[in-house]
Amino acid sequence: MYAASLLLLALAALAAPNVVTAAACKRAKRAAPSAAADTQCIQVQVVYRHGARTIVTPTYPTDPNADPKLYQPYGLGHLTSLGRQHEYVLGQLLRSRYVGATASVANLLDAEYASGVLTTKTSGVARTQESAASCLAGMWPPAAGSRQRWHSNNTQVGQVWTPIVYDIIPFAQDRAIAGTAPCASRDLEYNRVVTSGEYRTRVLRVLGGEANLRYLETNSGTNYNFSDPASAAFAYNIFSATQCQELLGLTTPSWIKKLYPEPLRAASTLYLRTLSYTPKLMRHSYGDLTKWLMNATRNYETQPKFQAYSGHDATVSAVIQIFELEPQDDAGFGIPDFSACVMIELHRDRQGRLGLRFFYRREYGGKVITMVPKGCNEFCLLDDVEEILSNKMSRDDETCDVPADHGTTLREVHRAHILGHHILADPTTPSTPTEETD
Ligand SMILES: *[C@@H]1O[C@H](CO)[C@@H](O)[C@H](O)[C@H]1NC(C)=O
Ligand SMILES: *[C@@H]1O[C@H](CO)[C@@H](O)[C@H](O)[C@H]1NC(C)=O
Ligand SMILES: *[C@@H]1O[C@H](CO)[C@@H](O)[C@H](O)[C@H]1NC(C)=O
Repeated sequence: MYAASLLLLALAALAAPNVVTAAACKRAKRAAPSAAADTQCIQVQVVYRHGARTIVTPTYPTDPNADPKLYQPYGLGHLTSLGRQHEYVLGQLLRSRYVGATASVANLLDAEYASGVLTTKTSGVARTQESAASCLAGMWPPAAGSRQRWHSNNTQVGQVWTPIVYDIIPFAQDRAIAGTAPCASRDLEYNRVVTSGEYRTRVLRVLGGEANLRYLETNSGTNYNFSDPASAAFAYNIFSATQCQELLGLTTPSWIKKLYPEPLRAASTLYLRTLSYTPKLMRHSYGDLTKWLMNATRNYETQPKFQAYSGHDATVSAVIQIFELEPQDDAGFGIPDFSACVMIELHRDRQGRLGLRFFYRREYGGKVITMVPKGCNEFCLLDDVEEILSNKMSRDDETCDVPADHGTTLREVHRAHILGHHILADPTTPSTPTEETD
């Protein structure tokens, strides 16, 4: 009787994968489910968004809060005091998960910070550097009684803060965090995506129809023809300016309330997804990040146990898309809010197999949730992860060359958002926006 039940179970297990897709089936067969208790965390990589910031100009022509003086003493595009707090508290959260004997992943990292146990990479944008500094302050204050305590006559700073370094990736080489490395074929691919009928339909659906777009155009003083594929980016600019201004206590125009936060938030989420819409976009904008994440995992024995990437909402969104963690609907897990953080944990199970587990904290004060790559188990074996990532890593043999007459770069909208208007004049800017030719 017992043997017969086992046989039935075995047959059921063999039959079940027939109903899922081939790739998902392969993954499901390889990765037998493992309860969390059966695996041990041996390394963690996190990708987080900066904290609350001031506006990045330009926002929109009728913005009543466009005067840079309103954003002193921080400056445009920098963290605010609230933003520093967002990141400091994120650091404390990471500490409670990974640092010391009482952490939920106990003893992954020693309570006493030592150089070499962690790396942090930021983009060339000031707010990601300010965020890294704030996060590290929350994560690793000098341990009581340790040599990391300094300036012993001062009862404040040396007791609570360890200066910890981070590395900055320059704009022109950034295919990891801000995705700002110039690349004409990436821009061409972006245009192909956003000029497709499918994409335009999607933008309008998410925005709630053409009437809403017209309403936005009229009130914000812009003239985006609804067939202009930049619509989602334009919605994003209005959404993010409004959110920043609200958090600073500024009065936002009353007309915005009709569409803020929804559907502008949903349109913004779609805009962020668009930057990593296809594997080619992922490779050219975030392909190095994908490569580094996987390389660190494969070489965990020689690599730091904690590796962080201090980035942007688009970076967090890209990671979710690259690992296929997002439910395939328009809003998905939603826009990564300030200090949103994806945690990618490397685990070993009892049979010695390596795999990744994914966690996400979408907003300040929010819960940490589990995410599962499409077609994989919660403990997703490394071979399966590699299959998911195979066409998303940067390749040495892939150039950015395109036919000379290819035309516009709508990526400018993204660069303008990330870098701010003043940096658009830099010599690495690939070209100025023009009318589409294809
Ligand atoms: C700390 O205070 C003591 C006593 O006031 C003084 O002798 C010493 O030089 C101070 N050390 C530092 C590093 O300021
Ligand atoms: C919008 O653009 C389309 C295609 O370029 C054009 O046919 C249409 O007249 C434009 N509409 C407005 C209101 O500008
Ligand atoms: C991959 O990891 C190895 C071992 O830690 C390191 O030497 C190498 O530089 C890494 N490669 C990349 C592209 O990060």
